Amino acid sequence: MAITEIAPGIHYVGVNDRTTTRFEGLWSLPQGVSYNAYLVTGEKTALIDTVEEAFGSRLEANIREVIGDRKLDYLVINHMEPDHSSSITALRRLYPDLQIVSNAKALQMVEGFYGIAGPTLEVREGDTLDLGGKHLTFHLIPMVHWPETMVTWCAGEQTLFTGDALGCFGALDGGITDSEIDPERYWDEMRRYYACIVGKYGAPVQKALQKLAALPVRTACPTHGPVWQQQLGRVIDLYDRMSRYEGEPGVVIAYASMYGNTEQLAERLAREIAAEGVRDIRVYNLSYADPSVVLRDVFRFDTLLVGGPTYNAGLFPPVAELLDKLAARCIPQRRFGWFGSFTWAGASVRLLGEFAQKMKWETLCEPVEMKQGFSGKMHDACRTLARSAAEGLRDKA
Ligand code: FEO
Repeated sequence: MAITEIAPGIHYVGVNDRTTTRFEGLWSLPQGVSYNAYLVTGEKTALIDTVEEAFGSRLEANIREVIGDRKLDYLVINHMEPDHSSSITALRRLYPDLQIVSNAKALQMVEGFYGIAGPTLEVREGDTLDLGGKHLTFHLIPMVHWPETMVTWCAGEQTLFTGDALGCFGALDGGITDSEIDPERYWDEMRRYYACIVGKYGAPVQKALQKLAALPVRTACPTHGPVWQQQLGRVIDLYDRMSRYEGEPGVVIAYASMYGNTEQLAERLAREIAAEGVRDIRVYNLSYADPSVVLRDVFRFDTLLVGGPTYNAGLFPPVAELLDKLAARCIPQRRFGWFGSFTWAGASVRLLGEFAQKMKWETLCEPVEMKQGFSGKMHDACRTLARSAAEGLRDKA
């Protein structure tokens, strides 16, 4: 048995990326990321997805380690985003007869991105490809998180190739399946991946989870992160809760501050909330915090306090950027409180209130608005907001 076999006749042939600093040019990768590809071997051979093209030669070496000089018959494309598809051209050079298998939307993208029109095999919902001893069945899960996304099901091995669904950030440090790793280090990276990459598409993820629930799955093979077997129930539960935008009891305080006055409001609020008995509190200075980490925790916790100074008669830019990211993800519910400051004419607090209205979020109580510097005069207002935030959380925390 090859060292990368994860189920009979199914090998992991993916790669780790520990050098890219911004995934999609946006999101930090402090623990790297893996681009997962899988090789299914029957009488014929099929590769499920490829890897980012900078790592294409490693993918080829991994394939050759499993099948030697045998030819690669099929490339199944579950997802066309280039972190998974950009090695297609190189693979076609290596295996000129390679037949590309996917749905109509994906095949159009293969031509659009790489100028490859054939040979291809278009599949529809429920179609099965016979590899001789292994059968692959295709199920469409559009908008998780692109329109062409689908999963591939190997019934004989009860293995589901899930594309980005059930994926997470974090390179694989040797272990591939969850029995070979400490899964604890991946949960936060899964939340961060979901919030940043898939977060807008909660409804399609819910549809996909319901559709796939009928399939008996022993092994789930996503395009990023570990292969899930023992922990599969927990992974599905996490994706289910995140795609329902269901927050755990806890408070995120996200603020920005020009000269430290709004910051003192944030610090006071955090202390008051802790004094109310809430244990899960995360405080982020938006001028310095990693936006992906803030998003991760907004997805994780059910209560959000946002604060910032008035700047050019509007929101301070780091605060406005956070609100843009939250609105883009269409988060339907959060318990929301807000606070802010001004020197001669306030706008920040009013605009944060308008944001809450636009999002149709539950608001906690009157906001805390401060003119000029922080002093003990603000304590009562902070306590009122803190108590409102803590209300109902304390017993659950
Ligand atoms: Fe990992 Fe949507 O690409």
